[in-house]
Amino acid sequence: MKIFHDIAPLRAALKNAGRVVLVPTMGNLHEGHITLVRDARKHGDAVVATVFVNRLQFRPGEDFDKYPRTLSADAKYLEDAGAEFLFAPAEDVMYPTPQYFHVDVPDELATILEGEFRPGHFRGVATVVMKLFQIVQPDAALFGKKDYQQMLVLSALVREFNMPIEVIAGDTIRAEDGLALSSRNGFLSATERAEAPRLHRLLERLVASVRSGDKKFEQLENAVMAELKQNAWSPDYVAIRRRSDLQAPSADTGAGHLVVVAAAKLGSTRLIDNIEI
Ligand code: PAF
Repeated sequence: MKIFHDIAPLRAALKNAGRVVLVPTMGNLHEGHITLVRDARKHGDAVVATVFVNRLQFRPGEDFDKYPRTLSADAKYLEDAGAEFLFAPAEDVMYPTPQYFHVDVPDELATILEGEFRPGHFRGVATVVMKLFQIVQPDAALFGKKDYQQMLVLSALVREFNMPIEVIAGDTIRAEDGLALSSRNGFLSATERAEAPRLHRLLERLVASVRSGDKKFEQLENAVMAELKQNAWSPDYVAIRRRSDLQAPSADTGAGHLVVVAAAKLGSTRLIDNIEI
């Protein structure tokens, strides 16, 4: 695997690389990312993974400073998974001058759910991904479904700017006890780690109820919120939404078109999860 920290040599190396598939990450890789890289191999000739912790998508007080930087372990992981290229720019390569231009994500997607609790987050994500798209010029890009809203934002970005990039969604990878893999799981204490799978268990229970015909969505959401609170979580939201745009479903939106999304804090660690229904 070739590692690049600068844009020009990366572009030169990609000139004759064939169909390029991009897997953007913020590093501190786990099996979820590695599965994306392995999947990416099936969609093109060369896989470019990127590792960059993007300051623009963190709000003051969030975990930008403590976000683990583990580049040498990440590089080994990526090489073993079969990535051909790793782009790991320093901050002044991505942002040599302040970023004055930003991608404005429409409110319907940017201010709901994650966007309500992390204002500006998707503007930061969309801006850095737009930059990565310009730098790498991939034919396809993979994003994990664990960040469901992010995936919708980035699919819409590609569609609305007519970018010739195929956006491919990768399945959420879970630990044996159901906890969705996330770089942030490393922040959990042993006790919190034992408690953490409750979120997925409760979402599974809600999904089973919807699949068996229960349409009282608000009641189902509130029941999960209440049970999380009883177990010392601080939930931000539990919401049954349309898969296509994450808006509230109408009474006739059936299973197959729904997703339940949730975010909750356990101690100081904020976890998100979702299940398509
Ligand atoms: O999902 C992530 O890790 C990040 O949001 C991304 C897409 C790499 C942009 O920084």
